[in-house]
Amino acid sequence: MVVRIYSLSPHVANQIAAGEVIERPASVVKELLENALDAGADTIHVDIGFGGLNHIKISDNGIGILADDLPLAIAPHATSKISQLHDLYAIRSMGFRGEALASIASVSRLTVSSKPASQAHGMMLRVTEGATHLEPCARSQGTTLDVRDLFFNVPVRKKFLKSQLSEYQAIEAVIKRFALSTPNITLTLNHNDKQTLSLPAARCEQTTLLRIKKVLGRGFLDQAIHLDVERAGMRLSGWVSGLKYQRSQNDKQWIYVNHRMVKDKLLNHALKQSYEGMLHSGRHPACLLYLTLPPQDIDVNVHPTKYEVRFQQPRLVHDFITSHIKKALSLPEASDCVMSPLVSKSHSSALSEPCQSYTYPVTSSKRGQWLVLNTQFVVIFVQNTPYLLDYDCLQHHLSASTVKTLTYPMLSRPLLLPVSYLIDQSNYSKFEAVLPLLSDLGLQCEFVSESRLRIRTLPQAFPLLDIQRFLDAIPTVQASQPELLKLLLASQSFDAYQVTEEEQEGLIAFLNQAPDVFRLCCRVLSTLTCRGFFHG
Ligand SMILES: Nc1ncnc2c1ncn2[C@@H]1O[C@H](COP(=O)(O)OP(=O)(O)OP(=O)(O)O)[C@@H](O)[C@H]1O
Ligand SMILES: [Mg+2]
Repeated sequence: MVVRIYSLSPHVANQIAAGEVIERPASVVKELLENALDAGADTIHVDIGFGGLNHIKISDNGIGILADDLPLAIAPHATSKISQLHDLYAIRSMGFRGEALASIASVSRLTVSSKPASQAHGMMLRVTEGATHLEPCARSQGTTLDVRDLFFNVPVRKKFLKSQLSEYQAIEAVIKRFALSTPNITLTLNHNDKQTLSLPAARCEQTTLLRIKKVLGRGFLDQAIHLDVERAGMRLSGWVSGLKYQRSQNDKQWIYVNHRMVKDKLLNHALKQSYEGMLHSGRHPACLLYLTLPPQDIDVNVHPTKYEVRFQQPRLVHDFITSHIKKALSLPEASDCVMSPLVSKSHSSALSEPCQSYTYPVTSSKRGQWLVLNTQFVVIFVQNTPYLLDYDCLQHHLSASTVKTLTYPMLSRPLLLPVSYLIDQSNYSKFEAVLPLLSDLGLQCEFVSESRLRIRTLPQAFPLLDIQRFLDAIPTVQASQPELLKLLLASQSFDAYQVTEEEQEGLIAFLNQAPDVFRLCCRVLSTLTCRGFFHG
């Protein structure tokens, strides 16, 4: 048998290339947003019909495309962004391959209308299955790409698409990611003629933060740690989550390299390593990080989707990221950490501050929400019913008789890193007597030497325990369980505090164990009062 070799027609070749760049409607949106950014637009409107399966329209007010260049814009390997091989080694734009529009045009019915400032009127180019038609149109400066019936001529690809809703969600995710690398661009998104996202341009720090909150949710920023560091031409800025914000999914790890959204293995590994041993197993941190480095130090021409990058000096980049995130988290690298990171501001200073000056994070959990209102009151939801918990009252009523309803040993929660506490040697015997009782209260400690105690667990029922204050006061109280329990209650720290799901459950379990205390200290709030609290 004789086998002959043929050149593929441009149309078939484009369809093959399109398979790599355009996987689903969200890939079209990503490419078109990046083109609008490269065109210097400061306003972009996105209209989606049926999850992008029927219709994707993206309009911008950028520099536009000259009428003569419109046919070239949809031709393969035609670009205004690079002109010679050398340019490839220092890419400053989002696009550079001249591939995206050609790919989109080969798998959809595409219309490009555009008007550059120098042209008296706009021109519109229609493309269907390789056939083009150019005509004048009325429009203001900028470009509109209108993509209909995506994959109409690639039934196999169409079969792999998901439902309208999941395709729409993928598009929304792309737009949100894009929005956080381009704060100066006004962005709107409509789905099936309804506005679903509106992000005005953010021109100052405050409005930038508002945009971040809108996109990533309040919970992240409220406790995130800000960093902005520079070394050897590299800059890392943005936010990383503190140790109390742990997610079951790694979906909020947003890293940009030179403003490009990437999903890069090296960067993900650096992030993971920065938190190693500090998060509960199966939990992930969140981040919004911007890494910038000289364009010649990275290669973005790794994968057709440009989600991966290759660094000239991967080790340097990796270490730069891990060392600075670790520093931002203020976590010493040794396994034993000193007491200070655990201890927040002193109780007395917290008490003297007026209520309004606190920032109270609201945490959602399976059980509902939890809101620390001030040094005295906490709103908790137990099976969807809001309760106002009075801590002063709780301390007052936790008399010896109610304490009896508790079962010992009380539940403990292990510390991710054991903490050390220095004791005066004259108090050694006092601590020695107290240690077995502390263990019953869920606080497991051991002597490392006569002057140093190592604390391994904390009582689950006391999520706000200021452990240093508690241990400092031990020599002053009787070595008995009720006395130590009272001291635990008196050693609560009421600083602005992110309550984890585990801690909420700890206290709820504690309140369930002592129903008398719960009745005395918690009042059911009317829905109205409760709304007032959350909005106030
Ligand atoms: N919204 C737009 N405004 C102005 N010019 C545009 C716009 N979209 C595309 N173009 C022009 O059309 C050309 C082709 O776009 P296309 O996206 O196919 O390639 P690219 O952006 O150069 O590279 P890549 O394939 O990597 O995206 C661009 O180089 C640009 O000159
Ligand atoms: Mg492009």
